[in-house]
Amino acid sequence: MNRSIINILCCLISSLIATAQATNNLLPPFEKWKDDKGNFINAHGAGVLSYNGTYYLFGEIKKGKTHLVPNQSWEDYRVDAGGISCYSSKDLVHWKYEGIALAPNKTDSTSDIHISKVIERPKVIYNKRTKQFVMWVHIDKEDYSYAHIGVAVSNSPAGPYKYLQSVQPNGQQSRDMTVFKDDNGKAYLIYSSENNNTMQICELSNDYLSPTKNYIRILENQRREAPAMFKHDGKYYLITSLCSGWDPNAAILSVADSVMGNWVQRGNPCVGKDAATTFNSQSSFVLPLNKGKFIFLADRWNKTNLEDSRYIWLPLTINNGNVEIKYKDEK
Ligand code: DGJ
Repeated sequence: MNRSIINILCCLISSLIATAQATNNLLPPFEKWKDDKGNFINAHGAGVLSYNGTYYLFGEIKKGKTHLVPNQSWEDYRVDAGGISCYSSKDLVHWKYEGIALAPNKTDSTSDIHISKVIERPKVIYNKRTKQFVMWVHIDKEDYSYAHIGVAVSNSPAGPYKYLQSVQPNGQQSRDMTVFKDDNGKAYLIYSSENNNTMQICELSNDYLSPTKNYIRILENQRREAPAMFKHDGKYYLITSLCSGWDPNAAILSVADSVMGNWVQRGNPCVGKDAATTFNSQSSFVLPLNKGKFIFLADRWNKTNLEDSRYIWLPLTINNGNVEIKYKDEK
């Protein structure tokens, strides 16, 4: 057998093993999830890039003392922005620390990514034409009045990423966000806008580096945030939370025949005890595995000690268009 066939077979077998392990509930231990160096995984508001048989996990680094921003009408608990971490894994169980993918700026307080700012919910996609990895991330001031979305690029999946700039797509506010790349290569930003009252979806340019003028308003006046989009059997699904600061609430699933709508709400996809609080968590990403099997990634925030926030990764299934997320105790 020639070497390239052996390589292809090895890739196939390791991806089958990874999928089998992940769907057999070898999900990360929510309470004590450690990397290859024995350190707690620090990747909140996370997203996963699947590239060349490896999964890359990106998330917010939350480290240091949590403080309450004064004179806010809501509980604006914060830690200094620690930048974005990256971990890699072949099996979704064992994770290697790859380092800081997007480093915060420690000296220039006017920089978008200065430690005094908000750098949240990073999502990375790969652009086949430009061969660049593109990271989009929520950029804000500590009082969340800036409402921008930032973009950074790298030639390798784990980074380091070079920060380019932040924008408000078509002059619209952007807070909690995600990115979705469709099978045809088109990519979209999905973000809470209009003072978090309404979400918007905006198509990205072919290089994924800027928003186009093509955007729609969805879930009008529903006050949704924490978007996570995925696709199955030609249908598009979007899980969101209600806006309640760091406190958990019930997720809602919306469904559409095309990314650009129409989006119809379908109720809470979580079933069982604590479904009304999304099992005490908030959505961050949905990772496709295969055959209608997905992993739902969520944050279990500890608002007064954000560094101590945890994660839950749960199986998400779709049967005949019916989406279900069930709680599973950690192993
Ligand atoms: C809820 C959002 O989903 C989080 O990402 C973060 O922005 C907090 N609000 C801040 O309170």
